[in-house]
This record gives sequence, structure tokens and C-alpha cells, in this order.
Amino acid sequence: MRIEIAPEESYHLINHGPCNLLTTGDGARRNVAPINWTMPLNNDPPLMLTVVEEGIFTDTLLRANGEFVINVVGEPLAAKVLVCGRSHGSETDKFETVGLTPAASKKVKPPYLKESLAHIECQPVNRHPYDGVTIYVGRVVHAEVEEAFWTGKTLDAEKAKTIHHLSGGTFAVSDRVIRVR
Ligand SMILES: Cc1cc2nc3c(=O)[nH]c(=O)nc-3n(C[C@H](O)[C@H](O)[C@H](O)COP(=O)(O)O)c2cc1C
Repeated sequence: MRIEIAPEESYHLINHGPCNLLTTGDGARRNVAPINWTMPLNNDPPLMLTVVEEGIFTDTLLRANGEFVINVVGEPLAAKVLVCGRSHGSETDKFETVGLTPAASKKVKPPYLKESLAHIECQPVNRHPYDGVTIYVGRVVHAEVEEAFWTGKTLDAEKAKTIHHLSGGTFAVSDRVIRVR
């Protein structure tokens, strides 16, 4: 038997892409926030998009500068991800209060997180507002991964144990890879 789900709840069926910590900043200000709705848009040219609620500090910094860094994190950071998502960078420096270490990115002003397994630096391409959210599109200008978590072709999902947000404080963890022919 299949049950009906309200349209507003349907995103929970496909919500669990890897939950990342997005870092933003304009040189003077900086911030970190979990932005689950972040995904690739194209591989050539390499583009990423992120969907950000209107008015949060992340949105303010993206409007000011447009650059963002996608920090890939694993299970050990899940509790910090949740704390980051429950406070505002306009009121507190989340790097200090949550205990995350900003490090200078190569090509953009927002820092990357030393605790991340990998990070992707993006420069602004364009943005599009919708009701209550804005889609920011960025071009990937630099990306790095910890060697131990790279198979040579993909993220080693079993080792990386990326977290996949289902709802509230509930995450799925990637710790099994299958190969089909
Ligand atoms: C697991 C998780 C995923 C989230 N995903 C998003 C998202 O995709 N887009 C968004 O705008 N907010 C998302 N949020 C909420 C923001 O993280 C939150 O509003 C933000 O941290 C507010 O901080 P800021 O004002 O410093 O930007 C998420 C929160 C959590 C805990």
C-alpha cells in the first residue's frame, strides 16, 4: 500500500544528499551554516547551486559577495552541523562558539573548514529569487579532498561517512557502497 504525502512534506523523500557546511564571507565578515539544498548543476563548466532562505546571515553575505565554499563533512561533525543550523552568524561567531577552524581558501574570500573532508570553492555566476529563498549559482574555481577519502575517482563514501539529513536531528550515514553491472 502506498500512502499519500502532503506536497510540503515530499522533499523528505529526496532530502538526503550529503549535508554540507556552507562557508560565506566578504573578507570582513564570515559565516558557517548547514545548507542541505546544495547540489551540482553542471560538470563542464563546473557549476554548483545552493538554495538559501531569504534574510539569514548566509543570504546577507551571499548578496554582498556571492562567493561560497561547500565543506563536505562526515559523521563526527553531525552534532556541530545541528548547532550551526540553530544559531545565526549575525549574532555569534559560529566558528568560535561551535568549535570549527576557518582556514584561508585558495581562490575565494570565504574560509574553508579545516575539519572538513573536502571543500569546493565557488565564485558567483548568478542568483535567482523565489518566494522566501534565493538560488545562488557558483562556478567551481578550486576543490580539494583529503587523500585518505578519495578513491582516485570518487569520494570514498564508506570511509567518509557523509551525513544525509532526513529531518530535525535525524541523519542517514553513508557507510556502505555497492557496485552493480
Ligand atoms: C541539517 C540542516 C540543513 C539545513 N539546510 C538548509 C538549506 O538547505 N537552506 C537553508 O536556507 N537553510 C538550511 N538550514 C537552516 C540554516 O542552516 C540556518 O537557518 C542557518 O544556520 C542560519 O544561520 P545564519 O543566519 O548564520 O545563516 C538547515 C539547517 C540544518 C540543521
